Amino acid sequence: MAKLSPSTLVIMVMCCYWATIAASQSMKYKDPKQPLNVRIKDLLNRMTLEEKIGQMTQIDRSVASADVMQKYFIGSILSGGGSVPAKEASPEMWIDMINGFQNGSLATRLGIPMIYGIDAVHGNNNVYKATIFPHNVGLGVTRDPELIKKIGAATALEVRATGINYAFAPCIAVCRDPRWGRCFESYSEDPAIVRQMTELIPGLQGDIPANGRKGVPYVGGKEKVVACAKHFVGDGGTTKGINENNTVISPHNLFSIHMPAYYDSVLKGVATIMISYSSVNGAKMHGDHQLVTNFLKNNVKFRGFVISDWQGIDRITDPPHANYTYSILRSVEAGLDMIMVPLNYTEFIDGLSYLVTNNFIPMSRIDDAVKRILRVKFVMGLFENPLADTTMVKHLGSHEHRELAREAVRKSLVLLKNGKTATEPLLPLPKKSAKILVSGTHADDIGNQCGGWTIEWHGQSGNITIGTTILSAIKNTVDPTTEVVYQENPTPEFIKSNNFSYAIVVTGEHPYSETVGDSLNLTIPEPGPTTITNVCGAVKCVVVLISGRPVVIEPYVSNMDALVAAWLPGSEGQGVADVLYGDYGFTGKLARTWFKTVDQLPMNVGDPHYDPLYPFGFGITTEAVKSS
Ligand code: BGC
Ligand code: BGC
Repeated sequence: MAKLSPSTLVIMVMCCYWATIAASQSMKYKDPKQPLNVRIKDLLNRMTLEEKIGQMTQIDRSVASADVMQKYFIGSILSGGGSVPAKEASPEMWIDMINGFQNGSLATRLGIPMIYGIDAVHGNNNVYKATIFPHNVGLGVTRDPELIKKIGAATALEVRATGINYAFAPCIAVCRDPRWGRCFESYSEDPAIVRQMTELIPGLQGDIPANGRKGVPYVGGKEKVVACAKHFVGDGGTTKGINENNTVISPHNLFSIHMPAYYDSVLKGVATIMISYSSVNGAKMHGDHQLVTNFLKNNVKFRGFVISDWQGIDRITDPPHANYTYSILRSVEAGLDMIMVPLNYTEFIDGLSYLVTNNFIPMSRIDDAVKRILRVKFVMGLFENPLADTTMVKHLGSHEHRELAREAVRKSLVLLKNGKTATEPLLPLPKKSAKILVSGTHADDIGNQCGGWTIEWHGQSGNITIGTTILSAIKNTVDPTTEVVYQENPTPEFIKSNNFSYAIVVTGEHPYSETVGDSLNLTIPEPGPTTITNVCGAVKCVVVLISGRPVVIEPYVSNMDALVAAWLPGSEGQGVADVLYGDYGFTGKLARTWFKTVDQLPMNVGDPHYDPLYPFGFGITTEAVKSS
């Protein structure tokens, strides 16, 4: 190589420098000082159809790689339920994986970063060691929007701890029938409570600044995540609670029961909304132009992006995927902006390209979708901070977050019965006794107390993640002289041959999610009823029921001395013992109607023939005991 004189070198360096400055000045979209709309317009104008369609495509991590991101200009990746980089993966492993994918996106011509979504629906629940908060069915009981907002903020930090920036939460379904397998994802049957609980959104995304505009997407930087109100709309109103089914409803009830929480969400700046698998009066939501475009976008003025559910467009036809080109046409025309494909992405990309190139779908519709996606990406600061680092790792499962979850558990418990007569309450329990019995399939099982959407899609029994079981919480709480005997399903003989002061039975439903959770009988599976009968027949007992919804508890109640609905409390079982032993009082009030028999369903507060076992709003309160 010929030698260059120092002055030539200086000139060359200067030229490079000015060329870079000039390029970035003309690349307005890369300049954070430019107004949002200028950046969006500048970038959109540079994009080819292929690049635009890529932005509209969301794929699952199982089919993602840096090469795929780069080759197809993929706009987003998700982790479906249980879709993790490795069993018990560390946050560093998550970050490395996600940065790897992101580098693929950044290596594209325009370098548009992808966003990474996950179902963080009760904490960052797919991730080992994350704090698992109570499911929404318990949070509704608290009637405490400030608490829910704090849970959102904690969840945002735990999601960011793993390098993720998008949470598919909150589920703002109004579950009107507990036979629905997703009832536990709903805060209440009462739309007013669900509306309050949209405070999860400013918790996840941050508060819109005082001088900021309401009703437009807002995400407050690196410690916050994009939220997603779901599932639009009427998911909790299907016939007999059958998942993904049909909500038969008058316009008045649709707009007064299922819609209101969407107004709150949009006002609070929710950046994305997910469409429901279900139908409204026979029309699939994934193809509903009237509700998605005319109503949500044009009327409510939602400015974020609308995302499909997992293979949701496939299910526009029956059987699913019978005519995928039609599914693409129908959903994109309806106004969906990002499609959670999420596996066969080339089929989606080819299909959508065909439809646009042949003028079945106008470019204006594609541009609307891409503008919305880019808006969210700019607002959240993704172009400035596309890569994650390990500074947030410390938040995952932190002591502070576990204490917050424990508080939420305490406030979510509902005391349904206390004493065979009102003058002989069993609770709070004495910390000091000679010998006590703890029984039931849910007493010493983290997986059972967390429910669905924990580590696995359907959740799983067993010690699947870090937390405090209710049995260990009891042991932590009683006086050291109290002997705690644990027998999962003891015989009456065993109980009678011991001199127990009292027994605590912890039992209920086993983990499930979505359709497998649908139940027409709502009975507690065996050996739950047997354990209740044997234990409560032999010794004074309190039953702690772990369930995603009200379940059939007659004819067992008369046998019990006390009954506590604990819903799906999550990893912090200590909150249950805190209240059983009177360190805190019971404050929770039912956010759902407790029916007597399933043939009464659906039956919700305000219905004309309301005849519940325990009405909506019921809950016996107790005072904290000062010392014991
Ligand atoms: C569920 C959504 C979820 C998505 C991604 C779907 O089956 O209905 O709530 O966000 O999967 O896991
Ligand atoms: C995924 C879930 C998703 C479901 C939809 C599963 O394979 O893990 O996230 O909700 O499919 O059917």
